[in-house]
Amino acid sequence: MPTLAIAKASNLSFSPSYIPVAVFAGGTSGVGQAMAEAFARQTDGRAHIILVGRNASAAASTLAGFPKPKGADGWAHEFVECDATSMASVRAMCAGLRGRLTHINFLVMTAGANSMVECGETAEGLDHHLSIRYYSRYTYVKELVTLLGAARDKGQDARVISVLGAGFGMTIATDDLGLEKARRGTIGFLKGAMLSFAALKGMVRGVAYNDGMLAHFAAQHPDLAFTHIHPGQVDTPGAVLYMGWLLSARMDDCAQYMLYGLFDGARGLFIRNQHGDVVSAHICQSDHAAQVDAKSSIAHKAGVLHGVPMKGYGGSDTTVKMLVEYTERVLGVIECFASQISGSGRVVTKMRKLLGSSVARASNEIRTWRAGRSPLASNSKASMTITTGPK
Ligand SMILES: NC(=O)c1ccc[n+]([C@@H]2O[C@H](COP(=O)([O-])OP(=O)(O)OC[C@H]3O[C@@H](n4cnc5c(N)ncnc54)[C@H](OP(=O)(O)O)[C@@H]3O)[C@@H](O)[C@H]2O)c1
Repeated sequence: MPTLAIAKASNLSFSPSYIPVAVFAGGTSGVGQAMAEAFARQTDGRAHIILVGRNASAAASTLAGFPKPKGADGWAHEFVECDATSMASVRAMCAGLRGRLTHINFLVMTAGANSMVECGETAEGLDHHLSIRYYSRYTYVKELVTLLGAARDKGQDARVISVLGAGFGMTIATDDLGLEKARRGTIGFLKGAMLSFAALKGMVRGVAYNDGMLAHFAAQHPDLAFTHIHPGQVDTPGAVLYMGWLLSARMDDCAQYMLYGLFDGARGLFIRNQHGDVVSAHICQSDHAAQVDAKSSIAHKAGVLHGVPMKGYGGSDTTVKMLVEYTERVLGVIECFASQISGSGRVVTKMRKLLGSSVARASNEIRTWRAGRSPLASNSKASMTITTGPK
C-alpha cells in the first residue's frame, strides 16, 4: 500500500509533454471535484479540463480556483451540463464533445447519488441508482471511447476510471437485471420515505455492473486502461449517509490516491482499492472474444475473466455477456424512443414490452425503427458550457 507521501510523489512525476484532455463526469462535488483540482494543480492548469454535472455555480467556483497558465497553448477549463439520469442528456453531451475534441486522455467517472431510500424510476424507465452509477457510465465510455482511442493512436495516455466500489467481488446477479421486480416489491406510499431494499439493491448492483462493464470495454479496447476503484470512506458533501465521518478520509487525500491509480497501468482492466493499489489486473488479448467458449464451466465462474482468476472482481464471462446484451437492448430502446419518452404511457408500455422480449426480437424491432426514422434525441438537454481558457 502506498503511503500518502508516496502517492503524492508519484503523481508529481506526471508531467506530460502534451496538453492532456481530462473529462470529470461528477467533477462538481466530492471526490470528482477534488480529483479535478489536484489534476489542475499538477498540470499548473496547462490542461483541457472538462467538469461534467448539473451544478453550474459549483463548477464555476471550482474552475475559478484552477491555476491559469500565461500562454495560450491550448489549455481550457470548462463546465458542460449533463444530467446522468437521462441517457439522452449523456448522449447529447458526448456528441457535443465528439464534435469538437480530437481526443480524450482521461475519462474520470465519479457521479453518484447515495441514498438508501431512493428507489424510483427515471423518465426513461431506468432504475434511478443504476442510471447514475451504471447506465450513464456505460454510455460515457461507449460514446467517448473513440476519442480515447485517438489519444492512444497519438502515443498519449488513454485511461478510464470509474470511482465506485471496486474490490468486493460482488457477483452480477442476472435475475431482474433492471431491478423492475425489486422496485415493484416496494410498497408505493413508502417509496422514498424509508429504507428500501430496492434502493440498497440499486447501489450494490451498480458496483457489480461496473466490474462487468469495464471488463467488457477492456476486452473490446485492449490498448486502453480501464480501472474500477473504491474511494474508501471519504468526507464529501454526498457522504452524509455513510456515517462515521470521523473515520473518513479527507477529499484531497482521497484524490491523491485516486490519481495515483489513474496514472498507473497503461492498458487492461484494473481493480483497485482506496489507496490506488492494484487488487487484480488483466491485460486482455485482442482476439479474446473469438476464444471465449460459452459452454465451458470456466465461463460461468464468478471472479474469473477470460480464464484468469481476478481477486475482487465479481463478473464471469457469461454474466458479463448477459449484462452487456441487456444493457445494449435497454439503451437501444431508450435511444429509439427518445423523443417520445416523457409523458407518453403508450411509449413506456412499448418499451417495457421490448425490454421483456428476447434480445433478437428487440434488436430487430430497434433496427426496423431505425430504418424508418432518423435517430433522434430531440428531448435531450442542450449542453451548456462555461469556458475559461484562451481562445
Ligand atoms: N464519499 C464516500 O465515502 C464514498 C464511499 C464509497 C463510494 N463512493 C462513491 O464515490 C463517488 C463519488 O462520491 P462523492 O461522495 O464524491 O459524491 P458527491 O460529493 O455527492 O458528488 C456527487 C457528484 O455526482 C454528480 N451527480 C449526482 N447526480 C447527478 C446527475 N443526475 N447528473 C449528473 N451528475 C450528477 C454531482 O454533480 P451535480 O450536483 O453537479 O449534478 C456531483 O458532482 C460516488 O459514485 C459514490 O457512490 C463514495
